[in-house]
Amino acid sequence: MTAQIIDGKAFAATVRAKVAAHVARLKEEFGEHPGLAVVIVGEDPASHVYVRSKAKQTIEVGMNSYEHKLPADTSEAELLALIAKLNADTSVHGILVQLPLPKHLDSDLVINSIDPAKDVDGFHISNVGLLGTGQKSMVPCTPLGCLMMLRDYHGDLSGMNAVVVGRSNIVGKPMANLLLGDSCTVTIAHSRTKDLPSVVRQADIVVAAVGRPEMVKGDWIKPGATVIDVGINRIERDGKGILVGDADFDSCAAVAGAITPVPGGVGPMTIACLLANTLTAFCRAKDLPEPQGLTA
Ligand code: GUN
Repeated sequence: MTAQIIDGKAFAATVRAKVAAHVARLKEEFGEHPGLAVVIVGEDPASHVYVRSKAKQTIEVGMNSYEHKLPADTSEAELLALIAKLNADTSVHGILVQLPLPKHLDSDLVINSIDPAKDVDGFHISNVGLLGTGQKSMVPCTPLGCLMMLRDYHGDLSGMNAVVVGRSNIVGKPMANLLLGDSCTVTIAHSRTKDLPSVVRQADIVVAAVGRPEMVKGDWIKPGATVIDVGINRIERDGKGILVGDADFDSCAAVAGAITPVPGGVGPMTIACLLANTLTAFCRAKDLPEPQGLTA
């Protein structure tokens, strides 16, 4: 194996430490704490695990955490009424509605009812439009985490060829916009791209976010390229359940210059960036300088 391993777990800890230090300063100077409200509807066990982890880390960095657990049969009107209340609540600076929502609820309608200034997921159509036009916005957490790791490893990204494999609204599209913002030459490829291996082979930076276990192979990677693996896929191997990414780790690590592992790569950065976004939303709401190194 030749690639340097980009340790997302360690990097996420440094992001959380920066957020915590900034929050402590704000408390000292202004006596106020950023607050994050997380709304979860229904009983999906994986979502509940995720939400508990968010709440724990929110409190650990010194912010207020407000959890709203609603039953699976919550009506759209009830959910929209809660979001309206959180929008108006001056102690809440960030609002996250855990996805997926139960099928009877219209996710787009719900997400677009969040005040864009409190939309710490960056999923509101206003934030999507602002990011797409290169304006200041709230940025989706997972691609923001990928960008932070790339900047940390490479410094300046300008002029680099980046191939994003995957075109989701949550990762692929915002990732491409962020890389464009850092002056990369960006290609969005996906499962239907013709001769995907040869497209990926052009890349100095590969972001694998296609949702297919171990799809990106080592012989698709230009020697020395950086591979950022966003995939989290649970598969069976040798009779055991394991987590793998969208890149075939061993073959890619033999060729790449650097690679994020799964688990322990991009995954831990997502919640760290949620906390960073909540701090950013607080600073913007109060007209305070934005935290350095924690935004796009
Ligand atoms: N479900 C899984 N990941 C996410 C996320 O980043 N944000 C929200 N709102 N829901 C999710």
